[in-house]
Amino acid sequence: MADLDDLREGNNFGLGIASGEQPFHVKGASHLLWGMKDRLSRIFNPSTGRTVMLAFDHGFIMGPTSGLERIDLTIVPLIEYADCLMCTRGILQSLIPPSTNKPICLRADAGTSILTELNDNVLIDVEDAIRLNVSAMAIMLSIGDPSYEAKTVANLYRAVDLGSRYGIPVMGVTAVGKQMARDARYFGLASRICAENGANIVKTYYCEGFDKVVAACPVPVVIAGGKKLPEKEALELCYQAINDGASGVDMGRNVFQSVAPAAMIQAIHGVVHDGLTPDQGYELFNDLA
Ligand code: 5RP
Repeated sequence: MADLDDLREGNNFGLGIASGEQPFHVKGASHLLWGMKDRLSRIFNPSTGRTVMLAFDHGFIMGPTSGLERIDLTIVPLIEYADCLMCTRGILQSLIPPSTNKPICLRADAGTSILTELNDNVLIDVEDAIRLNVSAMAIMLSIGDPSYEAKTVANLYRAVDLGSRYGIPVMGVTAVGKQMARDARYFGLASRICAENGANIVKTYYCEGFDKVVAACPVPVVIAGGKKLPEKEALELCYQAINDGASGVDMGRNVFQSVAPAAMIQAIHGVVHDGLTPDQGYELFNDLA
């Protein structure tokens, strides 16, 4: 019990001043509990409502792909510029310094490689995600794939059940199969299915008509970068996505395969958070590079 000596009566009740409760800055998250909101706030900057996530989970399917051969040399120096890191638990535990204090979006399913077909993935044990203190779990959905659609939707569903129990948000990642059209109808369908099944964030690809994909998705949408583009085009992609309502990016190759990765991620940050146009972003990239 606190010392009762000189216990002072409260006398500063702010009478007449409205309560300081704030509207929440993440789409579709107003009704979530505190732990979820805290984790989402670590990913989405409360001042802009947006995020620049750095994705380097590619090795879980692709192995040591270009730019990720030595994560200690190529990715660790970029951490300071990212709002959130997306990676597997193996890379997190072996190469990412725990002192970075950045939120982690953990790749939380696995089970395939580039040598085989997509995708009979299994889920991580949520206790491992808790032990790793992650801020979100990322689960892939193969919508439209007759063999694996149901399995991957079930994975997302299960991850949401487990994540909700412990206050860990889930990001649904829409896979792109070889036969699937990469258009607003497809990405709109896949994104909406992620959200309907409880995903708190959706990661998908930019396409024409992206504003409709975002509008019909009740939670924040972030874009993957996809294959490496010239830097100016990648910044245009970010700009268009933000303009169409995306809440940020979760990019990999267009950062770590850039000729100047640190300059690139800072230019992306400028477009996502500071309202830079692609030309301004490219100018910043060239200045920093
Ligand atoms: C694959 C992923 C990757 O992290 C994603 O593709 C992001 O990387 P890139 O910007 O290189 O496309 O989630 O499921």
